[in-house]
Amino acid sequence: MNATTNPDPLKLGVLISGSGTNLQAIIDAIGRRELKAEIRVVISNRADAYGLIRARDAGIRTLVIDHRRFESREAFDRRLVAELRAADVELVILAGFMRLLSHVMLRAFPNRIMNIHPALLPSFPGLHVQKAAIDYGARFSGCTVFFVTEGVDDGPIIIQAVVPVYGSDTEDSLSARILAQEHRIYPRAIELFQQGRLEIKGRQVIVKDARTPPGGQVLINPPLTDS
Ligand code: GRF
Repeated sequence: MNATTNPDPLKLGVLISGSGTNLQAIIDAIGRRELKAEIRVVISNRADAYGLIRARDAGIRTLVIDHRRFESREAFDRRLVAELRAADVELVILAGFMRLLSHVMLRAFPNRIMNIHPALLPSFPGLHVQKAAIDYGARFSGCTVFFVTEGVDDGPIIIQAVVPVYGSDTEDSLSARILAQEHRIYPRAIELFQQGRLEIKGRQVIVKDARTPPGGQVLINPPLTDS
């Protein structure tokens, strides 16, 4: 098959816990026909996640599965797997989903679960990473889309975007700068998958037919000159 002409929309299941702005970016990319995909179901572990409203507004089926009702992480994941399979999902998208996945989900969808993280992995894995980047004095941060594996924020990297960190930044201002780029790179990562262009080799993701960034596209902060 020609990698870039897969005619079939990719069937997505999106897992959320909160505001769902990344979900919205994916809905919008599909709406603009930039992304050939169909969101079959949005599942939240929290009934009050605003992303559920975004999904319903877009006419997407939603489900709330409260993790607290399950005796173990594995039991919760078994329910997720059942629902995602029933919805015929091909790729699972974690979009601000605040639960760690067990081997039950990982085995059910090997190399078919993506996540996004608001830092330049492998720097700053975990939580509250925008504040961590500021506190550390990093001059750049960014965001990373990766395939989920057993480790936390540890899987093969698909795409990253870099943003500068300013001396005046607060956690909120840096988070907003990063989030704007998350909304660009997540739909692109899904598009590359839909086109059959992602191949995982060990830690590396080979992106078939990818252009290389233009030469000289180097970011230096603070700049080398004052004007
Ligand atoms: C994003 O910053 C994402 O990187 C992280 O959780 C946040 C989710 O935001 N995993 P939203 O729910 O998509 O608005």
